[in-house]
Amino acid sequence: MNCFLDLAVSRRSIRKFEDKEIPVEDIEYFIKAATYAPSGCNSQCWKFIAVKDRDIIKKIENIVIQKVDDILKEKAEELPQSYLASKRKMVSFFAKAPVVIAVFMTKAKFYDETFISVLKEQGHDNKSIMDIFANYDILSIGAAIQNMLLAIHEKGYGACWMNEPAIAGKDINEVLGISLDKRFISLIPVGIPAYTPREKKIKSMDEVFSIV
Ligand SMILES: Cc1cc2nc3c(=O)[nH]c(=O)nc-3n(C[C@H](O)[C@H](O)[C@H](O)COP(=O)(O)O)c2cc1C
Repeated sequence: MNCFLDLAVSRRSIRKFEDKEIPVEDIEYFIKAATYAPSGCNSQCWKFIAVKDRDIIKKIENIVIQKVDDILKEKAEELPQSYLASKRKMVSFFAKAPVVIAVFMTKAKFYDETFISVLKEQGHDNKSIMDIFANYDILSIGAAIQNMLLAIHEKGYGACWMNEPAIAGKDINEVLGISLDKRFISLIPVGIPAYTPREKKIKSMDEVFSIV
């Protein structure tokens, strides 16, 4: 790869992996890249757990599939079996990766307590304050994950940013022994890609960009 744009353009979501271990130094490299992302008020409001233990991965797979089944239970007779089977597969393919990185969000601080207290006097609570600031805690997590995905790709591995497992977020906290003040956000399965993804359609520059 010659330049940053090559790296950004060629990164793709990968959903099938070869059955090969990833050295710990490489996992640490991915996490290091994530921890240098920008974050609102430099909160660094993240925590990462790289799960290699097959039993723990299996437990997470089971609880995610169970959650999907529970949600779809009422509609199970109306929905085609093929939908149910593919839904289960799409929420649980992470379980076949050699490493699954779980991403949690911790409480973000705000650098200007005076401004926050004025907003609170005007009737805002913590949630509406976060809305005003476009949920900068979640945005920060996104920046960290994207850094991580690019580092993974640079090293020749593939990964997929998965938010669907968040439907079983609290149970994932429990399996990983993470207290609920840290909110589960995403799973990132990582491994050597077992296929080449189809080309993706990209919106034109005119559609998404202008200079005024
Ligand atoms: C916030 C976010 C959540 C995502 N969640 C999932 C997911 O749960 N399952 C999945 O298969 N892909 C998920 N993806 C991957 C997207 O489907 C993928 O990035 C998109 O289709 C573009 O393809 P590309 O990553 O190959 O460029 C997610 C991506 C983002 C940014």
